[in-house]
Amino acid sequence: MSDKQKKAAAEAAMEYVKPGMKIGLGTGSTANFFIEALGKQVKKGLDIAAVPTSRASFDLAKSLDIRMTTLDETPYLDLTVDGADEFDGQFRLIKGGGGALVREKIVASSSRYMVCIADASKRVDKLGKFPLPVEVVPFGVKATAWKIERALQFLKIQNKMVLRVKDGKAFQTDNGNVIIDLHLNEIPEPERLDNILNSTPGVLDTGLFLGICGIILMGDGKGVQKFERT
Ligand code: 5RP
Repeated sequence: MSDKQKKAAAEAAMEYVKPGMKIGLGTGSTANFFIEALGKQVKKGLDIAAVPTSRASFDLAKSLDIRMTTLDETPYLDLTVDGADEFDGQFRLIKGGGGALVREKIVASSSRYMVCIADASKRVDKLGKFPLPVEVVPFGVKATAWKIERALQFLKIQNKMVLRVKDGKAFQTDNGNVIIDLHLNEIPEPERLDNILNSTPGVLDTGLFLGICGIILMGDGKGVQKFERT
């Protein structure tokens, strides 16, 4: 993981920002570079309004005097710029390493374009080396985990499920839920897995972003490569 590559990708995403836009702000270290680049332009007079996907992104954007709005005030956004934990050649992403997957997916899917910004380590042939985050309602979490286990057995996917922990306690998302990280090694059919997991009671959503992202900007150490879905 390279901060230089992340920053280069984040700064390249500024090309898509135009005055008057409503912009979704992702979460994570790469998204932070974008928020900082956006803040610099705001200081120079750029007028945009932003919807953050986490408290952390809200705090950073606020500290940079970026004007904030909400999806309730502004349900249609022009653009969302966010990082990823993995992306493949079909513009499919795994997100949620930072635990903001649900808000990230709501915001990105409310935007005309989602631009993913990443360093080269995020590019994979097959999704799944990065553990897939699944946000789960705390009520009955063991029963939900058991149902997920059964679904994975049905799909013949070897797995290890790990309840995400922070400071010795179950990690809590901004929505008050918990995250189960699915160590799968490889996801043969992301769409099928996503459908099955999302139809499991207790599961709020998965970190699979399918058919949402249209543009990927990847820092590669020499510059930024651009991949565009046609
Ligand atoms: C947060 C995310 C992040 O975009 C993802 O974890 C990548 O993080 P980073 O930019 O720090 O590598 O999905 O929920």
